[in-house]
Order: sequence, then C-alpha cells, then structure tokens
Amino acid sequence: MKGRSWLWACIMGVVLLFALSPPLRAIENSACLDCHGDPDMVKELPNGKAVSLYVNPDRFKASVHGRNGIGCTDCHSDIEKLNYEKEVPHPVPVAPVNCADCHDEESAAYEESVHAKAKAKGIKGAPTCATCHQYHYTPYLAAYTVKEKRDLFCSKCHDPMSHHKWLTQKETHFAHVDCSLCHAKTKGMTNLRLYNPLTMKFIPGGRIIKAFGGSYDSFLKSLDANKNHQLENEELKAVSDKLGKKGFRVALYGEMVAESTPEVHKITKNAIRKCDTCHSPKSPYLRSVSFVLTKPDGEISSYKVEKASLSSFTTSKFYLLSATKVKWVDIIGFILILAGLCFAGGHFFIRIVTIPIRRKRGDK
Ligand code: HEC
Ligand code: HEC
Ligand code: HEC
Ligand code: HEC
Ligand code: HEC
Ligand code: HEC
Ligand code: HEC
Repeated sequence: MKGRSWLWACIMGVVLLFALSPPLRAIENSACLDCHGDPDMVKELPNGKAVSLYVNPDRFKASVHGRNGIGCTDCHSDIEKLNYEKEVPHPVPVAPVNCADCHDEESAAYEESVHAKAKAKGIKGAPTCATCHQYHYTPYLAAYTVKEKRDLFCSKCHDPMSHHKWLTQKETHFAHVDCSLCHAKTKGMTNLRLYNPLTMKFIPGGRIIKAFGGSYDSFLKSLDANKNHQLENEELKAVSDKLGKKGFRVALYGEMVAESTPEVHKITKNAIRKCDTCHSPKSPYLRSVSFVLTKPDGEISSYKVEKASLSSFTTSKFYLLSATKVKWVDIIGFILILAGLCFAGGHFFIRIVTIPIRRKRGDK
C-alpha cells in the first residue's frame, strides 16, 4: 500500500508541475528582438516613407505586458503559423493584433462608444485600442493624474475648452475630474495626492519613501495615528508637519477619477452635467476616498480617508499648510459655486438663497 501512495504522489506531482508551469512559448522575445531590437531597423513604404520596426527591449520589459509575461507572439499570434522557423525573416504581412483576445470586456465596452461608432462610419482619426494605449509600452495607468490622462488620451484629439459652455471654472474641472468620469458614467472615487503648492507639481511617492525609508504601506500606516485604518482630518493635517520636517512643502490635491474598469471605454456624448452629482456630500464619487502615493512603476499605494474630512474638498484644493485657511477657501469657494449655479440656472440659485425665507414661511 505504501509503495502505491508514493506512486500516486509522484503522478500528482508531475501533473501539478505541468498545471502550474507557464505555457511554453515556442518563440522567445529575444528571437524577435535579434532583429527588431535594432534601433535602425526601418521598412520603406511604397510611397518612399520609412516606418520604424524597432521595439525598445527595456521599455517593452517595463510595460504592463512585459511585466505580466506577455511575449511578442502572444500578441503577434500568427507568426508561428507563418512558419517562422523555416522562413526568416518571417513572411509579411503579419495579421493585425487583436487586443480582444485577452481584453474582451474592454473591447465590448469600447464597441458601444462614440469612438467605435465613428470608426464604423469610416470617420478618420477615431481612436482604437492601440491609438490610446501605446501598444508596445502600455503603462500602468493608476499613477497618472487627471491632467496626464487628459493629455495622453483625450486632448490629443479634442479641445475640451471649446465645448462645455455650461460648465463654470472649466480649467479647474478638467484638472480635477477625469473626462471619462462624466463621459462614461462609470463608478468613480476621490483620490488625494501630494502636491507642492509653490511649484504646482505633484510629489512622486518614491521621493517620500526615499526620505523616510521603509515601504509604501508602512509609511501610510505611520500616518494613521489612532490605528483605525483610516485617516481623519487631524491626521491629514499632521501629514504636512511630518513631511515639512524633511523639507517637503505639501498640500493635498483632490481628484475625482473614474474607477479603472472596462466601463471607462463606453464614452458617450450624453454625459453628466448636473452639478450636485459631485458638489454634494451625497455624491457617489465621495463614497470612496483615498490618500494616494504614486509608485515609479505606475501603480499606486493608497489608504482610506474618512469622508467627513472632505467637507471642504468640493470647494478647495485642500491646502494643509494652515487649517484656518481651509475655512476661508471654503467660504470663497462656496460663493464661487453659488455664482456658478447662478450661471447654470438663476432659478436654482434663487431657490437656494431663499431657502431660509421659505423655511420660515413653512413652504419647504
Ligand atoms: C531575421 C530578422 C527578423 C526576425 C528574427 C523577426 N523579424 Fe519581424 N520583421 C523583419 C523584417 C525584415 C520585417 C519587414 C518586412 C517587410 O515588410 O518588408 C519585419 C516586420 C515585422 C512586423 C511588421 C509586419 C507588417 O506587416 O508590417 C511585425 C509585427 C514583426 N516583424 C514581428 C516580429 C515578431 C513578433 C518576431 C518574433 C517572432 C519577429 N518579427 C522576428 C525581420 C525580422
Ligand atoms: C500587447 C500586444 C503586443 C505585444 C506584446 C507586442 N506587440 Fe508588436 N505590435 C502590437 C500592435 C497593436 C502593433 C500595431 C500593428 C497592429 O495593429 O498589428 C504592433 C506592431 C509591431 C511592429 C510593426 C512596427 C510598429 O511598431 O508598429 C513590430 C516590428 C512589432 N510589433 C514587433 C514586436 C516585438 C518584437 C514584440 C516583442 C518584443 C512585440 N511586437 C510585442 C502589439 C503588440
Ligand atoms: C479613447 C482612448 C481609449 C481607447 C480607444 C481605449 N482605451 Fe483603454 N483606457 C483608456 C482610459 C482613459 C483608461 C482608464 C485609465 C484610468 O483611469 O485608470 C483605460 C483603461 C484600460 C484598461 C485598464 C482598466 C481595465 O479595464 O482593467 C485596459 C485593460 C484597457 N484600457 C484596454 C483597452 C482595450 C483592449 C481597448 C480597445 C478595445 C482600449 N483600451 C481602448 C482609454 C482608452
Ligand atoms: C495575450 C494576452 C494579451 C493581449 C493580446 C493584450 N493584453 Fe493587455 N494585458 C494583458 C495582461 C495579462 C495584463 C495585465 C493584467 C492585470 O494587471 O490585471 C494586461 C493589461 C493591460 C492594460 C492595463 C493597464 C493598467 O493600468 O492596468 C492595458 C491598458 C492593456 N493591457 C492594453 C492592451 C492593448 C491596447 C492591447 C492590444 C494592442 C492588449 N492589451 C493586448 C494581456 C494581454
Ligand atoms: C485619436 C483621436 C481621439 C482620441 C484620442 C479621443 N477621441 Fe473622442 N472622438 C474622436 C473622433 C474622430 C470622434 C468622432 C467625431 C464625429 O463623430 O464627428 C470622437 C467623438 C467623441 C465624442 C462625441 C462627440 C460628438 O460630437 O459626437 C466625445 C464625447 C468624445 N469623443 C470624448 C473623448 C474622450 C473623453 C476621450 C479620452 C478618453 C477621447 N474622446 C479621445 C477622436 C478621438
Ligand atoms: C463635468 C462633466 C464633464 C467633464 C469633466 C467633461 N465633460 Fe465633455 N461633456 C459633458 C457634457 C454634459 C457634454 C454634452 C453637452 C455639451 O455639449 O457641452 C459634453 C460634451 C463633450 C464633447 C462633445 C461636444 C459636442 O458638442 O459634440 C466632447 C468632445 C467632450 N465633451 C470631450 C471632453 C473631454 C476631452 C473632457 C476631458 C478634458 C471632458 N469632455 C470632460 C460633460 C463633461
Ligand atoms: C463630475 C463631478 C463634478 C461636476 C458634475 C461638477 N463639478 Fe464643480 N468641481 C468638481 C471638482 C472635483 C472640483 C475641484 C475641487 C477642488 O479640488 O478644488 C470642482 C470645482 C468647482 C468650482 C471651483 C472651486 C474652486 O475652488 O476653484 C466651482 C465654482 C464649481 N466646481 C462649480 C460647479 C458647477 C456650477 C457645476 C455644474 C454646472 C459643477 N461644478 C459640476 C467636480 C464636479
């Protein structure tokens, strides 16, 4: 009996080994990079123009695909069928890459977007997966700011300032709200990032960790003085002192961002425009609030923030430099918002201003 269970253990071991080992890739990246890793590699088009066929090996390795073990022929999947071993260089043309092979949900959402519809109509310049995502060097997007995403994705083709006539403080909104949050009706959340109010630049998390030592998580935990797994107002204020001692000037910069899900691709023209979707304590985007440190690889490390600490968020950049300033910025901001509402609809403005009077009269 004993002998048999050994045999079974051996068989199971071998089976497990096969199940757990990554699928063998017939063609290694290095085989492709022997040719395509040469920066001078170009192909002449019939019209005389030259297209680069170079793929930077280091940048590819650092991309989200490189890091997740996706190789050249996982995307260029027909190359093996093209009898690569016998014919080098491989025959051309190579079939276009189909991102949907692995990203079917994103592709389904994209198909419902204004962009897929424009493409189907034959409108030139409608973006596809590869236009927006830098196919060989796809970065992790979590660490990108609202402004970076806007410049990387949407502003290449659209000038938001020439639309949105109804929106007050356009520049502020386009610097604090993801285009896709309004345009894709996705789930959203609020992130607070460290910002230098003098240079107007974001402070990379890596610099903070370098100054304080330890890991991202341990640094974040150290901010949570009462260890209740979230940061409250007092703790957030203490961040500026703690960082100030190491020479950092910080303010918190609030962003309303789309949750990174396939839904962000369902861009429609029929977007959110009601002010109180965001400017209200009941805003769905304030249900999840986080303090965020960005990492050099494009990912983030985050810590929950108590929503009530944000009572001033909707109206201020949430400067931590001085607590009293926040209040003043709030009041000014509030006046601005009321003024904004006035633009959006004088009727609404008057109703808000007259609430106390109407309350007194008993007509609620
Ligand atoms: C011996 C050199 C060599 C190797 C190895 C090689 N290629 Fe190429 N590749 C070429 C040349 C040359 C061209 C341009 C052919 C043409 O269109 O004239 C090319 C073109 C391409 C194109 C563009 C094809 C098109 O239709 O425009 C892709 C994609 C490509 N290679 C992918 C790969 C992948 C993936 C590998 C590894 C499996 C690989 N190549 C290995 C030489 C090579
Ligand atoms: C995430 C998928 C993906 C991976 C992984 C990938 N490619 Fe590509 N590659 C594309 C896409 C998309 C294009 C644009 C043409 C198309 O749509 O097929 C392209 C185009 C190319 C071209 C044509 C020139 C250019 O830059 O447009 C070459 C050459 C090429 N790839 C080589 C490689 C090599 C070598 C590797 C591995 C180091 C690799 N690719 C890995 C998606 C990928
Ligand atoms: C108009 C530009 C645009 C196009 C076209 C586009 N994307 Fe995206 N994609 C984005 C933006 C913006 C995000 C969200 C970034 C963020 O906020 O984190 C994103 C996020 C993603 C993510 C990460 C979120 C997730 O779903 O897990 C994947 C994967 C992705 N896109 C794949 C694709 C694929 C596949 C296609 C083609 C079907 C595509 N994208 C087309 C702009 C685009
Ligand atoms: C062979 C499978 C495969 C193909 C084909 C593929 N991807 Fe990916 N992609 C992955 C994997 C695996 C990940 C990492 C998943 C994760 O982190 O959750 C990923 C992640 C991504 C992300 C996420 C970045 C983020 O912030 O999380 C984007 C964007 C993306 N791919 C775009 C593309 C585009 C554009 C194409 C087509 C040019 C493509 N992918 C083709 C497997 C693939
Ligand atoms: C590569 C260029 C390109 C990029 C990048 C791009 N778009 Fe577009 N967009 C287009 C084109 C082309 C149309 C179709 C215009 C038409 O129908 O005349 C369009 C249509 C739209 C429309 C509908 C406008 C209308 O008049 O019907 C909206 C809204 C939109 N895009 C938002 C976005 C957002 C948000 C992003 C970033 C996530 C983005 N676009 C990225 C090219 C682009
Ligand atoms: C606060 C929500 C909101 C934000 C943020 C927002 N949009 Fe819009 N956008 C709308 C609404 C609502 C409309 C439709 C009404 C209109 O035309 O102004 C619209 C219209 C558009 C149109 C089509 C205009 C037309 O008349 O056809 C484009 C293109 C567009 N937005 C792109 C963008 C881009 C790019 C960004 C990011 C820089 C962005 N939007 C940010 C709400 C928003
Ligand atoms: C999608 C969410 C969203 C919508 C919709 C929205 N806002 Fe905003 N708004 C924000 C965010 C986020 C900020 C930036 C807050 C900050 O950090 O200063 C902002 C800032 C402002 C500011 C500037 C405050 C300051 O400190 O400079 C005003 C005024 C304002 N919004 C009014 C409006 C009005 C009026 C509407 C409706 C026409 C509206 N907003 C719609 C999210 C939104």
